Amino acid sequence: MKKKLTFLGIETSCDETAASIVRENEDNTADVLSNVISSQINEHREFGGVVPELAARSHVQNIDFIVQESLRQSKIRLEDVDGVAATAGPGLIVCLTVGYNIGKSLATFSEKPFLPINHLEGHALSPSIENKISFPYLLLLVSGGHSQFIIVNEINNYKQIGTTIDDAVGEAFDKTGKILGLEYPGGPKIEELAKLGNKEAFKLPRPIINRAGCHLSLAGLKTAVIREAKKIDSEQKRYDLAASFQNTINEILSKKTKVAMKEFNKNNYTRYKTFVVAGGVAANQAIRKNLIQVSNEMNFKPVFPSKEYCGDNAAMIAWAGIKRYKKKLFNNDDSVKSRWPLDKNAPFLKGPGLKI
Ligand SMILES: Nc1ncnc2c1ncn2[C@@H]1O[C@H](COP(=O)(O)OP(=O)(O)OP(=O)(O)O)[C@@H](O)[C@H]1O
Ligand SMILES: [Mg+2]
Repeated sequence: MKKKLTFLGIETSCDETAASIVRENEDNTADVLSNVISSQINEHREFGGVVPELAARSHVQNIDFIVQESLRQSKIRLEDVDGVAATAGPGLIVCLTVGYNIGKSLATFSEKPFLPINHLEGHALSPSIENKISFPYLLLLVSGGHSQFIIVNEINNYKQIGTTIDDAVGEAFDKTGKILGLEYPGGPKIEELAKLGNKEAFKLPRPIINRAGCHLSLAGLKTAVIREAKKIDSEQKRYDLAASFQNTINEILSKKTKVAMKEFNKNNYTRYKTFVVAGGVAANQAIRKNLIQVSNEMNFKPVFPSKEYCGDNAAMIAWAGIKRYKKKLFNNDDSVKSRWPLDKNAPFLKGPGLKI
């Protein structure tokens, strides 16, 4: 019988210090033997967002314990893993450096291969931890820093067909949360407030909804939320604005996902059409329900990761490490990177004077 690979994964790209031990299953899914995450949300809360230097200091303080804990919980010794994978970008350089250096040192010390991993590839592959998914598939990555439609042809073969030209969806949730006086991160709290509100109460803009393919733009929505928030004179109106904001995001994602699905259909002749949604925002139940409806309408099979694999975690990094190792795809570039697109040929679409 072929040996099943076991990897240690390490993630420190932003405000989560995480380590995980993952073993591959025979059916191409993964057995997550441990998934340890220390969130720094409380440390950053009073600043309303992540402070890079504080985050890096916290990673340094926690990383040894988190790695040891992931080994202890999985009952695996470092000598017994087949490789070490650590996030090398994109993210905050001061934070990435901590996990990357620890991962590299542990790999060198234990004479194991070291695989630097693209955090976005971790998100892109995260739904296949628990689900058998065949290539190609359409991916919507909706996180705090990214919002992209990508055709995942294979590991290491990504075609970006849409991206946000300004704010990411998670960022829009966080900014709206701040405007509504909610604690960071705003996403989960807006989801709760929205349940109590009337989603039709406020009419908010849906920038570039009928043009620019499946590219997204959300900055105008945020400006409108600022304007409408000034009119709030009751707790109920706050709920209504949260519900209206979330509903507008759903309308935008619904329309743009249909465009992306049509684009996918043009490029791929596969009978099994899978739509994978990943990243922190994929945890939102109202967004899931909306995207399941779109998938049914468009004849796609929707797949979402479990909640623990939506936000940042190291299981997805270990899993990407195993997948790359099996294909002998080693990222040999020996550095951490703040920007690292999955599709290196995709145009960079942020900034003034943009014509789309
Ligand atoms: N239930 C929810 N509804 C909406 N947004 C959510 C929910 N839960 C988490 N989020 C959002 O997800 C984001 C965090 O996701 P994630 O950890 O994947 O992003 P990140 O790692 O900061 O960014 P990136 O992966 O792009 O580098 C935050 O913006 C947060 O508000
Ligand atoms: Mg992330």
